[in-house]
Amino acid sequence: MHFDVLTIFPEFFAPFRTTGVLGRAVERSLIGIDVHDMRDWADNKWRQLDDEPYGGGPGMVIQAPPVITAVREIERRGDRVRTVLLSPRGRMLDQTLVEELAGETRLLVLCGRYEGFDERVAEILEPDEVSIGDYILGGGEVAAMVVMEAVARLVPGVVGDPESVAEDSFVAGLLDHPSYTRPLEVEGCEVPEVLRSGNHAKIARWRLERGVEATVTRRPDLIIKNWDRYPAEVRRLIRRYAPGLDPERG
Ligand SMILES: C[S@@+](CC[C@H](N)C(=O)[O-])C[C@H]1O[C@@H](n2cnc3c(N)ncnc32)[C@H](O)[C@@H]1O
Repeated sequence: MHFDVLTIFPEFFAPFRTTGVLGRAVERSLIGIDVHDMRDWADNKWRQLDDEPYGGGPGMVIQAPPVITAVREIERRGDRVRTVLLSPRGRMLDQTLVEELAGETRLLVLCGRYEGFDERVAEILEPDEVSIGDYILGGGEVAAMVVMEAVARLVPGVVGDPESVAEDSFVAGLLDHPSYTRPLEVEGCEVPEVLRSGNHAKIARWRLERGVEATVTRRPDLIIKNWDRYPAEVRRLIRRYAPGLDPERG
């Protein structure tokens, strides 16, 4: 997977590219991250890209021509690329979209600033517009890191143990089970006995039950959305914890 990022703040990405799991993935060439300074495509000596909005009002808008030229130039530098424009009005990022994006070989991520991009960037380039949630960030850089980190985790080899990715929240339409480590007791709270039993079947059962329980109580919306994907055993548990969430209930 290769990521290209177009931003006016390339420096944000320096530690991101070199730290932790992603840093190791870059080092091992499992993923590539090229960060491009949008200002390199400015057509003036001040490297200015923003201008006042037509119709007036507060804030500035990123001009379309330098962005369109930059995207086309970056597109030509490698394999076929899917372009993601970060925008609060975009499709909401969830694990389904992350999996879809992880199926690409190359993603170009456009980070807005100020009031965002001139609308013609979207009209002409027709990128996938993606939001990371119903709130407003100062710019697309943090959102780009969210998208890249979530997608990179799905690239084989990036996360050492593939089982840990398969068991993450959302992957099977459920929240993850609780986890414990040493010490055995913290302020009177003990690690559940079953996790110390050494009985792997019982541990797996307990984890599944706790995952289902967490999902029905904290995120019932996930149950409704993912019902068709659940195996019979998960459906049985959902009926036990929250019969009202069963869409097949007459
Ligand atoms: C200050 S925001 C612009 C907000 C815009 N005026 C609005 O109300 O929709 C500047 C840039 O940050 C990024 N951004 C802000 N919030 C975002 C979100 N929830 N998801 C994705 N990108 C976001 C986008 O790239 C956006 O162009």
